[in-house]
Amino acid sequence: MSEYNVAIVGATGAVGEEMRRVLEQRDFPVKDIRLLASERSAGRRLTFKRVGIAVKELTKDSFKGIDIALFSAGGSISKEFAPIAAEAGAVVIDNSSAFRMDKNAPLVVPEVNPEDVQEHNGIIANPNCSTIQMVVALKPIHDISPIKRIVVSTYQAVSGTGKKAIDELREQSKAVVADGRMNIEVYPHQIAFNLLPHIDVFLDNGYTKEEMKMVNETRKIMHAPEMKITATCVRVPVFVSHSEAVNIETEKKIPLSKVRETLEKAPGVEVIDNLEENLYPLPIEAEGQDECYVGRIREDESIENGINLWVVSDNLRKGAALNAVQIAELLVS
Ligand SMILES: NC(=O)c1ccc[n+]([C@@H]2O[C@H](COP(=O)([O-])OP(=O)(O)OC[C@H]3O[C@@H](n4cnc5c(N)ncnc54)[C@H](OP(=O)(O)O)[C@@H]3O)[C@@H](O)[C@H]2O)c1
Repeated sequence: MSEYNVAIVGATGAVGEEMRRVLEQRDFPVKDIRLLASERSAGRRLTFKRVGIAVKELTKDSFKGIDIALFSAGGSISKEFAPIAAEAGAVVIDNSSAFRMDKNAPLVVPEVNPEDVQEHNGIIANPNCSTIQMVVALKPIHDISPIKRIVVSTYQAVSGTGKKAIDELREQSKAVVADGRMNIEVYPHQIAFNLLPHIDVFLDNGYTKEEMKMVNETRKIMHAPEMKITATCVRVPVFVSHSEAVNIETEKKIPLSKVRETLEKAPGVEVIDNLEENLYPLPIEAEGQDECYVGRIREDESIENGINLWVVSDNLRKGAALNAVQIAELLVS
């Protein structure tokens, strides 16, 4: 079997750490691994398969001999260094939003549009975390009868913002039950015991960039440029796993039993939907798992062909690291 030289750019971050874990757990054929981060982390030792490896500072020369470069160090780093990595002969799988809507870069969720991987020109984009879990749950339904419209509200964990936000929620939570004095740095308002209807920056149309990512990326991944989609994205005081209330309208009526049966068989999906036992997907139970969990499956009784779903998945795994490694697996298979 062939083995590959893999680089992780942003190896010390929330997603980078998960990437190391996922590569190990899935036994990806790694020949050599290069862990890259900013000069602040150079020399720090991280382990991969029980071997200590020193983190190196990311430079223009970081990609010699690298076959696959997994990027998760933010959009500006990707914009500058992903073309350099591709030029050096690596295939880049980029977790930032830098290339997602670039016509030359496929945007791939392996359960949905694996064939698009072949179209790459050195850079493959990994979609936004909230988009990935939604399309994994919706594609099997779209295949039965095309989805005309999606209305989605998200409940997104702080780990989606990175390590500093995880620390801020922990510290603010302690402060609330102590003396109430706290630092507010990562978000514009307190996140502990609060909700913020504000993820990423506001755009001229009044939506946030995160909300428009869900619209535009879903259309690109599903090859459905006309699909009507509206999103409201909310940051919630949860450490890991995003949750989504998803309402869809399909062209034809699909019996609820058919929706359930289809989702039960769908790749990457697990249905948890037992109302008598109070069973439905929960973010704390999705943490560390690979699946997109779907529950609360019911008809939208206010329209002809409407369905409501509750979708939960680990944003650091399927929303980022796992999806990226699955793309790498498609490349080497
Ligand atoms: N968190 C999620 O759920 C999620 C999901 C999908 C996509 N993403 C995307 O993944 C990326 C990283 O997110 P994260 O949550 O892992 O953030 P994070 O925890 O803040 O980690 C950021 C990483 O980037 C590195 N970095 C920062 N500046 C750098 C520089 N100048 N040169 C090289 N490396 C640098 C950091 O290294 P140092 O430790 O040296 O500072 C660290 O390894 C972002 O583009 C984000 O949008 C995140």
